[in-house]
Order: sequence, then structure tokens, then C-alpha cells
Amino acid sequence: MFEILQKKKIAPLVDELTISAPYIAGHAKAGNFVVLRIHEKGERIPLTIADADRQQGTITLLFQKIGKTTVELGMLKPGDPIKDIAGPLGHATPVTKYGHCVLVGGGIGSATLYPILKALKDAENKTTVILGARTKELLVWEDKFREHSNEMLPTTDDGSSGRKGLVTEVLKEVIEREQVDLVIAVGPIRMMKAVSELTRPYKIKTIVSLNPVMVEGTGMCGACRVNIAGKTRFACADGPEFDGHEVDFHELENRLNFYKDEEGQALHLFIRKTKRKGMKLA
Ligand SMILES: Cc1cc2nc3c(=O)[nH]c(=O)nc-3n(C[C@H](O)[C@H](O)[C@H](O)COP(=O)(O)OP(=O)(O)OC[C@H]3O[C@@H](n4cnc5c(N)ncnc54)[C@H](O)[C@@H]3O)c2cc1C
Ligand code: FES
Repeated sequence: MFEILQKKKIAPLVDELTISAPYIAGHAKAGNFVVLRIHEKGERIPLTIADADRQQGTITLLFQKIGKTTVELGMLKPGDPIKDIAGPLGHATPVTKYGHCVLVGGGIGSATLYPILKALKDAENKTTVILGARTKELLVWEDKFREHSNEMLPTTDDGSSGRKGLVTEVLKEVIEREQVDLVIAVGPIRMMKAVSELTRPYKIKTIVSLNPVMVEGTGMCGACRVNIAGKTRFACADGPEFDGHEVDFHELENRLNFYKDEEGQALHLFIRKTKRKGMKLA
């Protein structure tokens, strides 16, 4: 059992949990994730280790409540246990001194970028962060990104914070302004695809973190298979980070939509059951 120590609402439909998990906190590296199961009958879901404190033995997870399990997770309170958390899983981000690294985050994908930013900074890279969201209040951990980066460029669809427009427009300006040695993009599939297409003609190394449906997270079930340069890879065991110029984003998007009906039904049933029991949804 893993105890929830703190819970914060950090944006509409986005919660932050600090959880006691000393082993995972002691071994987590930037880019790693966990697979958790709330209770015995719960579904397993992958979430990025957004932060880890070795001394306190805690990990921090940020999650968006979009379906049955994330809504159920959002109903837990400090003191509540989570049945299983397996991790750290996945390959860590390859961190070295690249030069100028531009990190592009969309929505909740920004959670993945925070430990990567800190690791790149420790390796003495210059960092520019471009965070994108529909509106200001959906920008995740803006202050923390500002604190650890050399340059922070928020971007919103409605212009309520930073530049109005798409993260790719800002990225193009940065690339045309100065040397960029590495781009890391994490967020919606369309955003990662657009970033990879933008950087391809400039021949800039581009890493994306893929988010297919996962089950056990250790390369045994095949649920998370992705097509990389025409070859099948498992995002959990071979990734989740891959060269953006080699990813078949179209196939990834199709596979993510495969269980949409069942996912909708599961959420609907959960909401009905919860209301019948007189419990409040978070
Ligand atoms: C390595 C990895 C790290 C992740 N890290 C985070 C994180 O830090 N924070 C976070 O909020 N989410 C993260 N995700 C996505 C998260 O796992 C899913 O949102 C979650 O499994 C949805 O479960 P659910 O039962 O609530 O929703 P479901 O009912 O399963 O799905 C609801 C909707 O979300 C979509 N969806 C389902 N699975 C995923 C997925 N893997 N990625 C994107 N959309 C999905 C479905 O197509 C559907 O439209 C990560 C995914 C991976 C693979
Ligand atoms: S989640 Fe089973 S192989 Fe990746």
C-alpha cells in the first residue's frame, strides 16, 4: 500500500498527488513513469513521475481526470492508500550536455517535462521551455518551469497568458533566432507530430514521449506497441521516449481511439454507481 500524503488541485480537472513511495523516489530518473492500481479490482494506468524527493521518500504525480480511473483517483484524499504502484518504469531520458535544449509541453504532458528540465539544467544545458494550453489556468506548473529554465515562453490559444497561438509558431521563432541542439516534445499526439515535422528540415534531434494504452508496463502484454521507423516497439519497455522523426503518429492515434466506446461506458457506469452510493465526484 502507498499512502497519499498531499493532494492539490492545480488546474481545472488536474490534480497533484504526493505519495509515500521510498523505493521509487530513491530510484526515479527523468522520463520514468509508474503503473498504478487504486484497488484490487482497479485498472492499471501509467502516470509520469513528475517529481521525486529522495530524502522524504515521496513521489509527485500530476493527472488529468479524463476517464474512469483518473476520476476515481481524483476522489482519493490525503491518508487514503493506493493498492499498487510499480516503478520506476521505462528508459530514463538520455541526459548529457547538448547545448541549447528546447522543451515543448502541451497540457498535462508538461508533467513529464519537469524532471527532464531539471536534469538538463544540472547537465549545464541552456534551456528554453515552451508551454502550451488552451487558456492561462490550464498551464501546468508555470512558476516551477520558469524557476528552472533560462527562458520560459507560455503560449495560450486565447492569449490569456504569453503568446496567443500554437507552440509550433513559437518554436519556429526560437529555431530561426538561435542554434537549437535538442527539442523534446510531450503532449497531445497532434502536437508532437507537428513539432517533429517542424524540426525535420532543420535536422534537429527531436525526442517525443509516447502515451499509448498500457497494461503491465514491462513489455509482456504487447498493449503499448508502436511503430518506430517501420519496426514494432513497446513504448513501456523500449520507450516511452523515441525519435520523433521515426514515429508513426497516425497509427498511434488510431490505436488510442480503439477503446473509446468501452472507456466511455466504464466512466458512465462509474458515475452512476458513485451517485447511487451518494458519494461526491471530485
Ligand atoms: C508513459 C505514460 C505516461 C503518462 N503520464 C501521464 C501523466 O503524468 N498524467 C496524466 O494525466 N496522464 C498520463 N498518461 C495518460 C494516462 O495514463 C491516461 O490518461 C489514463 O490511463 C486514462 O485512464 P482513465 O481510465 O482515466 O481513462 P480512459 O477511460 O482509459 O480514457 C479516457 C480518454 O483518454 C484517452 N486515453 C486513454 N489512455 C490514454 C493515454 N495513455 N494517453 C492519452 N490519452 C489516453 C482515451 O482515448 C479516452 O478518450 C500517461 C500515459 C503513458 C503511456
Ligand atoms: S504495457 Fe504491456 S507491453 Fe507495454
